[in-house]
Amino acid sequence: MRILITGGCGFIGNHVVRRVLMIPGVEKVVNVDALTYSGNLDNCKDIIDDRYRFVHESINNKSAIDEIIEAERISVLIHLAAESHVDRSINSVKPFVETNIDGTRILLESVVDSKKSGTNIHFIHVSTDEVYGSLKPDDPPFTEDTPLNPQNPYAATKAASDMLVQSFVNTHNISAVITRCSNNFGPRQFPEKLIPLMTINAMNKKALPIYGDGKQIRDWIHVEDHVSGILSSMLALIVGQIQSGEVFNFGAENERTNIQIVQTILKNVGAEESLISFVKDRPGHDRRYAMGYEKANRILGWRPEIEWDTGLSDTIQWYNDNKSWVDSITSGEYRNYIENQYGIDN
Ligand SMILES: NC(=O)c1ccc[n+]([C@@H]2O[C@H](COP(=O)([O-])OP(=O)(O)OC[C@H]3O[C@@H](n4cnc5c(N)ncnc54)[C@H](O)[C@@H]3O)[C@@H](O)[C@H]2O)c1
Repeated sequence: MRILITGGCGFIGNHVVRRVLMIPGVEKVVNVDALTYSGNLDNCKDIIDDRYRFVHESINNKSAIDEIIEAERISVLIHLAAESHVDRSINSVKPFVETNIDGTRILLESVVDSKKSGTNIHFIHVSTDEVYGSLKPDDPPFTEDTPLNPQNPYAATKAASDMLVQSFVNTHNISAVITRCSNNFGPRQFPEKLIPLMTINAMNKKALPIYGDGKQIRDWIHVEDHVSGILSSMLALIVGQIQSGEVFNFGAENERTNIQIVQTILKNVGAEESLISFVKDRPGHDRRYAMGYEKANRILGWRPEIEWDTGLSDTIQWYNDNKSWVDSITSGEYRNYIENQYGIDN
């Protein structure tokens, strides 16, 4: 296997890079990342392996992608590069359309071009539960058959990219699988997302901004369990255990409200609940997501392994132990972003 990973310097991507290097038979791992605000070279600095190569490049540069695919004889492409933050997509949707839709289009065209010259590349498209929209309190969890019904610009661009992948499977007969996962947590997550933001602010005794009533529900999964799901679907596609175009949902049966999470973090860090600051809700804020993973369990034998309490306290510990990583990110532009977004002094 010679694997191209897009977005390998992001939160989930760096865990994918580490894990694929552990798979027997992997000859090469190329990480293509544009290093946007959420991409961090430090996330991969301890990956020292002759088989690993980092390329600072955008997926929107087709000739560069084609060149890498050819020079490195790529046989698998794991696509994670994205604009990934809902709030930012509300402020400006353009980069989301460019990266999530057009960037995916370019990768798919490169896969088709390779196929025309005789090389089949397996395309692993990493998507999200947000494409399904929002659940009511008593609805059953999403399944792979739930219609796509994105409710915010980020989710709309991810749903569009999923549909492009499916259309390329149908019209160009490429080999692809789509994975959709619930909210991830774990080490090295860019600290504008809920768990690192609240952890870091709690540790620094700063205000913890919570949207609306804080009762929005997400199904939280540890990043390593998500990576296991991505890699199980990749291997199943490569060996022909699943057909091209299959979708797999990954979740953890771990539904929590935002306020519950924040209270748990405060307790864990030993900080006061008075740090909580309720702020105006995000427009169009989805109320609840929950992912059923019966299909992944039945076909891939996948299930989440990391227990919530342990996963969360280990994650909090990681942010506590890695203050230089946190400090290198939470300065300048990041601080301005948080202050503007939540109207709090950060
Ligand atoms: N974080 C979650 O909870 C979650 C859940 C389900 C699915 N996903 C999906 O997983 C993927 C990774 O998410 P994440 O949380 O690691 O995001 P992230 O924002 O931490 O990382 C995204 C990475 O993509 C890179 N990137 C952005 N635009 C690029 C471009 N044009 N060319 C090359 N690289 C580019 C960034 O530099 C960054 O390293 C995304 O596709 C996201 O939709 C995330």
